[in-house]
Amino acid sequence: MKKYYIKDIVNFKKIGKKFCSITAYDYMSAKLISDADFPLILVGDSASMVMYGYCDTTPITMEEMLLVLKAVIRADSGSVVVADMPFMSYQASLEEAIKNAGKFIKCGANAVKVEGASLDTCNKIKHFVSSGIPVVGHIGLMPQSINVTSGYSVQGKSRSRAKQIIRDALSLHKSGAFCVVLEGIPSQLAKLITEKISIPTIGIGSGPHCDGQIQVFHDVLGLDKSFLPKHSKRFFNGYDSFLSALHQYEDDVAQGSFPSSENYTDIDNSILEDISEDY
Ligand code: KIV
Repeated sequence: MKKYYIKDIVNFKKIGKKFCSITAYDYMSAKLISDADFPLILVGDSASMVMYGYCDTTPITMEEMLLVLKAVIRADSGSVVVADMPFMSYQASLEEAIKNAGKFIKCGANAVKVEGASLDTCNKIKHFVSSGIPVVGHIGLMPQSINVTSGYSVQGKSRSRAKQIIRDALSLHKSGAFCVVLEGIPSQLAKLITEKISIPTIGIGSGPHCDGQIQVFHDVLGLDKSFLPKHSKRFFNGYDSFLSALHQYEDDVAQGSFPSSENYTDIDNSILEDISEDY
């Protein structure tokens, strides 16, 4: 298993190597991703929906994020593990933000991710970095702000919003973020930003020109049959495959072909006779 460091992610941009990253929320999937040799795992706040069944990313708490992060860390993967700061874990005050980010690092995360690039957020990013906490920025479509943006729409289509997103990317770079997620922005804007900043851009729904891509584990493996976001692609028909395996299990039990002799252990006959006589 190859061990990846933040410097490797930064270096990918310098050598022009496109890289792949994905979310993980538990031990087994983190092991799988590590075996696939992905350099970066995001313990995303999308755990809110795919692990806890909330309707969006705003309800998930620090405690709930810490639970999934700890499971991912136990996989001891070679990937850089980035923990997503959940909604309201870094907005209220600098002190709270640093304490919460520190909790993730203490659990074994290598970096944290925050949404936005306001003056206040950039100030916090500077403090994180000077406290020894590497940061991934996240701009464009920011799921924690869906109540402000009234949903999940592509950001940066107008001249003024596009300019603002470029300024945001530059501010994140200046504040010390080591890379930046560009979510849901037009591909040409993502290209422009990718060319303008020397830290890697990681795209989701922002086209092919970013330095890396990120996707949600459950989307890529097709685990949700009812919904697939436009930015994603099912690389496996997970829902149907798992469902058919569960039906096969059910059928085998009903027909008596499972469990079979290799799935259980017999006791010695003389012992069986003894105990049968006793009762
Ligand atoms: O939580 C998440 O899944 C994200 C995306 C960038 C993948 O933030």
